[in-house]
This record gives sequence, C-alpha cells and structure tokens, in this order.
Amino acid sequence: MSAPTKSPPDRTAFAAMYAGKAPWDIPGPQQPFVAVADRVVGPVLDAGCGTGENALFFAARGQRVTGIDFVEEAITRARRKAAERGLSAQFHVKDALTLGDEQERFASVIDCGLFHVLSDDHRRRYVQALARVVEPGGRLFLMCFSDAEPGTDGPRRVSRQELHDAFAGGWEVESVEPARIETNPEFTDIKFSEGGPKAWFAVIRRTG
Ligand SMILES: C[S@@+](CC[C@H](N)C(=O)[O-])C[C@H]1O[C@@H](n2cnc3c(N)ncnc32)[C@H](O)[C@@H]1O
Repeated sequence: MSAPTKSPPDRTAFAAMYAGKAPWDIPGPQQPFVAVADRVVGPVLDAGCGTGENALFFAARGQRVTGIDFVEEAITRARRKAAERGLSAQFHVKDALTLGDEQERFASVIDCGLFHVLSDDHRRRYVQALARVVEPGGRLFLMCFSDAEPGTDGPRRVSRQELHDAFAGGWEVESVEPARIETNPEFTDIKFSEGGPKAWFAVIRRTG
C-alpha cells in the first residue's frame, strides 16, 4: 500500500469537521450508489454513514438499513433526518473497526468515503471487521478518492491495485469503475477537480 503523506483524521478531527462545512455532506445520495440501487439488497449497513443521506436513500426504497459512524453529531443529524422524513433506519455511534462484535449480519454494505480516510493499519482492521459482518455472497459497494485526483489535500488517494490488495483474501473484486464524488458547494477550502474529486466505485463480493 502507498505510504500516507499525513496522518489520517481521527474522531476529534471528524467531529470538528461536522461543526463546520464538511466537504462530503450533501443533501442527497451520491449518484454512483443511486446507479446500483437495484443490486443493493437488504439488510444494508452504511459504514461511516455521516449524516445519513446514502443510508436514508436505501431506507426510502424499503430496505432495512443500519448506519454507523463514530461521530455522535453525525448520528444525531442522521436520526433527525430519518424522523423528519418519516423513514425507518437505525443509526448507531460505533467505530467501524469494531464491526462484528454484535450478532447482526448484512447482505450489502455501502462505504462512501470511509475506506479512504483510514491508515494502512486501520484499513486492514476494517476489512477484517467487514468480513465478520458481510454474509457470504454479500457485497460491499465502496466509493473512494482515486489516484487520478491531483494533489494531496483531502483524503488519501487510492489506487486500483490497493483495492485489490486490501480485498485479496475471502473477497472478489467484481468491478472498479471511475466515478466522481459530489461535494458540498459551500466548502471552498480545497479546490478539487472540476466536476468533483475523481473516485473509484468498487463492487466487492464476500466469497468466504
Ligand atoms: C468522508 S466522510 C463520509 C460520510 C458519509 N458516508 C457521506 O457520504 O456523507 C467519512 C465518515 O466516516 C466517519 N469515520 C471515519 N472513521 C471512522 C471509524 N473508524 N468508524 C466509524 N466512522 C468513521 C467519519 O466520522 C465521517 O462521517
């Protein structure tokens, strides 16, 4: 895996970002998840769900959805949105590295921007944790910054090879396609590529 050029943000750093304009926090789901919606079967876990837009998109489609995030403010906002929209979804404050210490298992996991904020060590622990919660044959739908995005500001860039390496044992990487991440237009501190940061959208099946 490539060496990170800076330490990935911790829980305190993310909490501070939610106190301001978080660049990823947009008022709806990211389009690549909308495009694969018919393949996302329940129960669904949104790992690192933030304020819940992707999770609530799947809840609105009638899926049983659980969202987890380690920042309390994000989960408070996600629960508030669910109540305001009359949607049923579970949101819990939880560290993704500890997934699997409870009984619930999922047919689909969505990861929109969690994998790419983790250090190498946390990536390994996260993938191990995912292996505990994804049912055999279940799928992970993952969007992360790609190494085609210029610069180093913002999250780590991830190469196609790093995705294959991270999910080498007990997983099959079914597809890795170029995508764009929509960002909050109010966030202007970092200038990303015109049209949104360049990303990978990966579909990864649990084979073990
Ligand atoms: C780039 S944001 C994306 C949020 C959301 N998925 C979205 O698309 O709006 C990454 C999220 O992962 C959360 N996060 C980072 N590390 C985490 C961990 N170890 N466990 C749970 N959540 C984590 C952050 O608090 C943040 O909400």
